[in-house]
Amino acid sequence: MTLVIGVVSQKGGVGKSTVCRLIACNYALSEWLVKIADMDLAQGTCTSWNRRRLQNGKNPKVAVEQFVSVADALKMGKQYDLVVFDGAPHSTRMTLDIAHASDLVILPTGVSVDDLEPTIKLAHELKKNKIPVQKIALAFTRVGNSELEVAEAKDYVEASGYHLLKGVIHEKTAIRRASDEGKCATETSFRTITERVDVLVQSVVNRAGELKK
Ligand SMILES: Nc1ncnc2c1ncn2[C@@H]1O[C@H](COP(=O)(O)OP(=O)(O)O)[C@@H](O)[C@H]1O
Ligand SMILES: [Mg+2]
Repeated sequence: MTLVIGVVSQKGGVGKSTVCRLIACNYALSEWLVKIADMDLAQGTCTSWNRRRLQNGKNPKVAVEQFVSVADALKMGKQYDLVVFDGAPHSTRMTLDIAHASDLVILPTGVSVDDLEPTIKLAHELKKNKIPVQKIALAFTRVGNSELEVAEAKDYVEASGYHLLKGVIHEKTAIRRASDEGKCATETSFRTITERVDVLVQSVVNRAGELKK
């Protein structure tokens, strides 16, 4: 059975594509056959990133394909162990389709109230549309240096009742540079970055494993 993970947000620039690539590469590293369904046709971020990955001969390989509809992606996805949906921003219909199709729906979010508020609002929207709450998980992305800020954001999410994945992705030039070369956030040349981001990866793997049982 194919595992389906959706990565969605209403906002652009929160780190959806970065999280998708991270998840895809790390499952592929464990010999899973992985496909990213790039639903952001306007940007095609993962598609261009994969071209760079192929050009640079980077392993493990992941497949990326652009799709107009979730149904099309699912048909194709049957041949894969994992399909990761990279959602388009500002598309409520597609966000819902992705959420319905996914075993785990990840909402990447910054830790400011500006970012948290719309993220929780989206989670409520998913819940209202019959997405089981346990399938929804928030992930902190593009986080700064303040541990206090992260702790407060954590309290904010806990108060909302939604699941927060362990680990965060810090805002790092090295992560941007890595993606410029077709690499993911655990493929920078900095071991400390990899170790930190690995916590988030492990948390995704654990949560997906629990939900798929
Ligand atoms: N942790 C990070 N550190 C540095 N830059 C990041 C990080 N996460 C994302 N970015 C950069 O921020 C921009 C938006 O990220 P992206 O993953 O494409 O977001 P989205 O898919 O939600 O629009 C990109 O330029 C990306 O390289
Ligand atoms: Mg994107």
